[in-house]
Amino acid sequence: MLPVLVIHGGAGHIPKERVELSSSGVRSAARGGYAVLQGGGSAMDAVVEAVTQLENNPAYNAGCGSVLNVKGEVEMDAIVMDGKTLACGAVSAVRNIANPVQLARLVMDKTSHLCLTAGGASQFARAMGVPEVPEESLITDYARMRWKKNLAPDANPVESQMGKMGTVGAVAVDVEGNIACATSTGGMLNKMEGRVGDTACIGCGGYADNMVGAVSPTGHGEAIMKVTLSRLILFHMEQGQSAEAASDLALATMKSRVGGLGGVVTVDRQGRWAARFSSRQMSWAAAQKDTLHHGLNAGEHFIQSIDDPH
Ligand code: GLY
Repeated sequence: MLPVLVIHGGAGHIPKERVELSSSGVRSAARGGYAVLQGGGSAMDAVVEAVTQLENNPAYNAGCGSVLNVKGEVEMDAIVMDGKTLACGAVSAVRNIANPVQLARLVMDKTSHLCLTAGGASQFARAMGVPEVPEESLITDYARMRWKKNLAPDANPVESQMGKMGTVGAVAVDVEGNIACATSTGGMLNKMEGRVGDTACIGCGGYADNMVGAVSPTGHGEAIMKVTLSRLILFHMEQGQSAEAASDLALATMKSRVGGLGGVVTVDRQGRWAARFSSRQMSWAAAQKDTLHHGLNAGEHFIQSIDDPH
């Protein structure tokens, strides 16, 4: 099997001054995740590596750079899923850790549960020896500025809900044909404390099944949950649609039924892939066969060598 890794850095409207940051970060993380596959690593290892790199990059709404809840605090959601066994692990409303995606993987590997939340997730992190980090280390000036701006009485609710989202995610197929997905987010700007979005929910914030393919979405979490976006895409693929057509169909359903915008990265079991979005923009990159594909605006598709550092 020809391995492939596809990642996104979030759907929405990316301000001009952040376009290069957003685009270079996904290209770099795609290279990092793909190196795992090239070294014979598993799809799960590759998606966790790529998403970890994006969580560590303050340009995205995940890990360091997460948007703030209404109280100005960081609460993060993440999920991983293994398409071979349908094993899944997730965390929601977790605080004070750098890499929620790694904690989600520990939930999958070390517990009999699918999702741990808030204080329970933190307790589990401590038990697993995951280092606690100060909340301040996860908050960027940009996140704080946006939080303040969106608390103002004249704030635009559309901007706050559908604005500069930057949930991150990855899907991959490895040389053995195993498939995995991972997604991580700080959620929605000014969300209520304790709000759990799509990212922590199986079938919504991700799904992987070796028999069909995998999806990692980004966008308005409540809308994604209403249509179980990831599983809906796999359903369309089971009905014979390509990864691209299935992604477009499901995104169109989300728009027409619940007015939701977003984007997805999708792979099928043959390693064919798609990066599709109904939002204005989505930064994405795909690595396969020593080639890096990437884009950000609708219809954009750049191709470069995987070794090209730019
Ligand atoms: N899609 C990320 C969120 O709504 O939390």
